Amino acid sequence: MYTMQSWTCLFLILCSMQSMCHCCEWIRHHFGHLSAEYLSQLDQMGGDITKQNVPVLFPTSLYRHIDDAEFEDKVRFLNETIYQIIKLFDGNMKSVIWDKKNMDDFLNILDRQFENLNSCVSPAMKPERRLKRYFRKLNRRVLRKMNYSAEAWELIRKETKRHLQRLDILAGQMY
Ligand SMILES: *[C@@H]1O[C@H](CO)[C@@H](O)[C@H](O)[C@H]1NC(C)=O
Ligand SMILES: *[C@@H]1O[C@H](CO)[C@@H](O)[C@H](O)[C@H]1NC(C)=O
Repeated sequence: MYTMQSWTCLFLILCSMQSMCHCCEWIRHHFGHLSAEYLSQLDQMGGDITKQNVPVLFPTSLYRHIDDAEFEDKVRFLNETIYQIIKLFDGNMKSVIWDKKNMDDFLNILDRQFENLNSCVSPAMKPERRLKRYFRKLNRRVLRKMNYSAEAWELIRKETKRHLQRLDILAGQMY
């Protein structure tokens, strides 16, 4: 009876390790590849990144915090940040002067990254509120306040690049 329980226990541990490693393997082999692709499209879809300052402080402390988190929480953070970026780019884009093809590719690859992360681990019990609040502020103080102008979108592009580069570093530390 005792042995039976031990075997069941060992089996369960191995199973959970395997599903974990599936996600882990996926991040190792694919995250960086997609990340390099969308960062390249983001660069190519417009000119130089604007030198103008973004009126919302970059959430450095959130990133510092997540550096010490568990593997699954890191995956959830990658998932949520990418989701929030996708949501930002859902705004009124009539004024943008970016290359349409590069922009569509950028968004499509970002969508693919999100879909993969979303199915990688189970969702969190407690969603990351501060991250959502930060993106809401970015939407309000840049896009809405500046009337979704080309200039506002350049600021969003600048900030998006910063996030996606930071996420790439985070994912690189996960294996
Ligand atoms: C990924 O983000 C979406 C949008 O917030 C959420 O609905 C989903 O539960 C998240 N998935 C994970 C694994 O955290
Ligand atoms: C945005 O549009 C509103 C109303 O059309 C206008 O009052 C405001 O000055 C505009 N803001 C900027 C930054 O262009």
